[in-house]
Amino acid sequence: MKLSILSLAAAALAVTSAAAIKRQATDDKVVVGYWVPWGNVPVAQLDFTKVTHINYGFAVLTTKTADPTTITFDRYYDGTPMRDLVKKGNATGVKILMSIGGWTGSQTFSTISADAALRAKFINNALVFVRKNTLPDYAENPNGWSMDGIDIDWEYPAREGAICNKVSPNDSANYLLLLKELRAALDSEFPAVHKMLTAAVRVQPFDDPSGKPMADVSAYHPYYDYVNVMAYDIMGSWSSTTGPNAPFNNHPQGDPYSFMQAMNAWLKAGWPKNKLVMGTPFYGRSVTTSIDMTAVSPVSMIAPKTNVTPKGGPSDSNEVNFYCNEGSVYSGMWKWREIRQGILTSSTTNPVAGWTRFWDNDTQTPWLFRTSDKTFLSYDDPTSLGIKVQAAKSQGLRGVMYWDMTNDYNNELLTVLNQIHCTSNCPVITTTAATVTATTTTVAPTTTKSVTVVPTTTTVVTMTMSTVPSPSPTSSGKCDGIAAWNSTTAYAAGGTKVVYAGHLWTNKWWTQGEVPTIGNTWGVWADQGAC
Ligand SMILES: *[C@@H]1O[C@H](CO)[C@@H](O)[C@H](O)[C@H]1NC(C)=O
Ligand SMILES: *[C@@H]1O[C@H](CO)[C@@H](O)[C@H](O)[C@H]1NC(C)=O
Ligand SMILES: *[C@@H]1O[C@H](CO)[C@@H](O)[C@H](O)[C@H]1NC(C)=O
Ligand SMILES: *[C@@H]1O[C@H](CO)[C@@H](O)[C@H](O)[C@H]1NC(C)=O
Repeated sequence: MKLSILSLAAAALAVTSAAAIKRQATDDKVVVGYWVPWGNVPVAQLDFTKVTHINYGFAVLTTKTADPTTITFDRYYDGTPMRDLVKKGNATGVKILMSIGGWTGSQTFSTISADAALRAKFINNALVFVRKNTLPDYAENPNGWSMDGIDIDWEYPAREGAICNKVSPNDSANYLLLLKELRAALDSEFPAVHKMLTAAVRVQPFDDPSGKPMADVSAYHPYYDYVNVMAYDIMGSWSSTTGPNAPFNNHPQGDPYSFMQAMNAWLKAGWPKNKLVMGTPFYGRSVTTSIDMTAVSPVSMIAPKTNVTPKGGPSDSNEVNFYCNEGSVYSGMWKWREIRQGILTSSTTNPVAGWTRFWDNDTQTPWLFRTSDKTFLSYDDPTSLGIKVQAAKSQGLRGVMYWDMTNDYNNELLTVLNQIHCTSNCPVITTTAATVTATTTTVAPTTTKSVTVVPTTTTVVTMTMSTVPSPSPTSSGKCDGIAAWNSTTAYAAGGTKVVYAGHLWTNKWWTQGEVPTIGNTWGVWADQGAC
C-alpha cells in the first residue's frame, strides 16, 4: 500500500541581492573543477566563466605496466577533450591541469617515490603534460599537452586506499622528496612561466609512519600552489550505519570527519589559508537501510543499514574496475543532475511522490528517504553548498573545488560556488531547520502514522567573528559546577560542557587549544549562551 506523502519542507534558501554577486577577475580565489571523460558532458558544454581551474581526471599509475613510472590513461581516454580543454583554457584564461592518480590510479606512487631513479623517470614522464605541443592544432601523439600544471591525486600516502595500491610507512616522507624534485623540474624547464603543482588530499594531513596524521605538515606547502581537500565520501556503502556524505560539521553519531574538521585539521597542522581549497561533492550517496527512517522519533540521519548498495542514479554502474578489481558493486552515487531530474524535479526542496526530504541540523546537509525500498540518500544542494562556500570565504581560504564537472544541473551548484568571488552585497544563506517528529505510522490499516512538523526555527548563518566580551553580570546558574575551559586539555567526546568568558560551551568534535569564540557559529565550540 502506498503511503500518503507528507511534504516536509525542511530547508529553504533565501538569497539576498543575488544579482549583486560580482566576479572579480583580479581576485586570487579559485573554483577548481575535475572533468572526467566518462561523465558524458562534452567540453563544449562547460561554462568556462564559472571556473578558474580544470583538472583532467585522470592519468593513472598502475602495476599493470612493467615500468611503475609509465603514465597511462583509463580506457575512456580520448585525446580530443584534452586538446579541447587546453584550447578553450588558453582562450578564456582558465588553467588546465592534468591530475595524476585517483582512487584506482595511485597504485605505484609508493614505489616511485621511494626511489630516486624512479622519481626522476616519473617526473620526466609527467612533464609531457606541461611541455609545449609543437605539432599543428594539438595533433595526436604530441610532444606535449601545453597544460598549465600537474595535480597529484595520490590516494593516499601511507594508507592503502584502493586494495591494489602499494603502500609504505615511509610514503609521506618520500612524497616530500617527490614534490621537491617535481617543483624543481617544473621551475628549471619553465623559468619564465609558472607551471602549477596542486594535489587532492584527505580530510586529515598526511600520515606519519605509524599511520597517524602528522601534527605539522608545513614542510610540504612551499611546493604546492594549493591543495584540494576531499571533504566528501565521509560515510557511504562502506560505513556501518547511514550517515552524511559530506557534512559541514561532524554528526555526533557519525564518523568524526567533516568540512570544518578537515579545514581545522589542515590549518592546525601549519597549512596556510591561501593554499587551502575545500572540496565539495556535486553528488550524493545512497544506501539501503533496515528500518523506515520516516517512522523514527526523533528523526535522525543515522540509522542501521544493510550491506546491499542500491544502484544510484541512472549512470551508476557495477562494472568491475579495469585497474583494480574491488568487486562488482554499485556505488549508490547520484549526480546532482540525476537527483534534479528524477527526485527533486519541481524544485530543490520538493521531492516527487515516494521520497521524503529532510534537513539535518548537525551536518547542515539535506537527505532523502524512499520508503518503498528503504533507500537513504545523503547529498549536497544549493543551501548546504552555500554554507560551505561562506565558511571558506570567511576563513580566508583560497577557494573551493568540486567533484565533478559532469554532475551539475544547469550550473545550479556551480553558481553557488562562485559566491567565493563575491565582494559586496553577498548572499546570506538562511536555513529553515525543521524538527520532524514522527509518532505513529499509517502503513497498513492496522497502524497509523502522523508526522508532525513542529514550528520551524530560522537560522541566519552569519560569519561574524566577534571579540570575547566580558562575563555576563547576571548568572542563570546553568554554568554551576561546570569546569572552566582549559587550553591544554584534549576534549575528546563531543558535547562536553565548559565555561569560558562567562558563557557555557559544548564542543562538536575532538579539540585541544582552540579558544571558544562568541558569535562564531562555525567553530568547534558551540556557544550555549551566557551563564
Ligand atoms: C595562449 O597561448 C598563447 C600561445 O602559446 C600564449 O601566448 C598565451 O599567453 C596563452 N594565453 C593564456 C591565457 O594562457
Ligand atoms: C623506511 O626508510 C628507512 C630509512 O630510509 C629505511 O631504513 C626503511 O627500510 C624504510 N622502510 C620501508 C618499509 O621502506
Ligand atoms: C538547529 O541548530 C541551530 C543552531 O545551532 C539551533 O539554534 C536550533 O535550535 C537547531 N534546531 C533543531 C531543530 O535542532
Ligand atoms: C589544565 O589541564 C592540564 C592537563 O589536563 C592540567 O595539568 C592543568 O592543571 C589544568 N589547568 C587548570 C587551570 O585547571
